[in-house]
Amino acid sequence: MQDKPENYPTAQPNGELLKSLTEVLLGRRATNHFTDEEVPEEYLNAILKFGGQAPSGYNLQPWRFIVVRDAENRKRLQKVAYNQPKIAEAPVIIIALGMKEEWKERASEVFREGAERGAGSLDTWERYRDGAISALSHAPMPLWVNRHTMIAVTTMMLVAEAYGFDTAPMEGFDAAGVRAEFGIPEEAEVCALLAIGRAAAPDKVYPGRFELDRIVYGERYGEKWESSLKSGV
Ligand SMILES: Cc1cc2nc3c(=O)[nH]c(=O)nc-3n(C[C@H](O)[C@H](O)[C@H](O)COP(=O)(O)O)c2cc1C
Repeated sequence: MQDKPENYPTAQPNGELLKSLTEVLLGRRATNHFTDEEVPEEYLNAILKFGGQAPSGYNLQPWRFIVVRDAENRKRLQKVAYNQPKIAEAPVIIIALGMKEEWKERASEVFREGAERGAGSLDTWERYRDGAISALSHAPMPLWVNRHTMIAVTTMMLVAEAYGFDTAPMEGFDAAGVRAEFGIPEEAEVCALLAIGRAAAPDKVYPGRFELDRIVYGERYGEKWESSLKSGV
């Protein structure tokens, strides 16, 4: 398994500092149109590796990613994704998959390696593995793999933004069509597409968000969230 990333690009390709977390979270837009400027390989690799560092239940990492850069392949993808122009425009589209079966084959490796690294016990990892497999036998797999894969997609999206790129997450696709075009097995949930590149100016404008009093409760469902602060960011 990969070690924690080291020696990754620590600045944007133009030499500027990485964007701060606040800049990333507030400045990110789901970009509608991209230029054809490439995403340099070292950045793309770093984005993918950071995505692979996302957390998942029992550390089972049920995700797989297909990196689509070839222009013809992006056009094929666009056709099964409601013809969204950004798919043909952006230099990189990641197809994010959640594997509903494959993680079972990888469970021993995950639990053994965790134990060897000191994150579990060498005496008990097999029991924990069996417990995990048994617990997950009751989980609705499409939901379970989506839950985890979307954290990895979100991680990649935010890392790409921190490197100064623009991104667009997408759910607008026909999963069966994407499977057929890219040789994806039945057991894979097609969870999302993520476009990465540079926004064609002007970028999309901020569409607004609900205030906290519309989305946060305090202590119990339906109870007002009391904050001593008048407003947030
Ligand atoms: C999981 C997910 C799927 C989305 N799918 C699409 C899509 O298929 N096409 C699209 O144009 N925008 C899509 N969006 C973008 C949203 O419309 C956008 O995030 C939202 O309107 C808020 O805008 P903002 O991200 O620029 O703040 C998606 C966003 C998410 C998080």
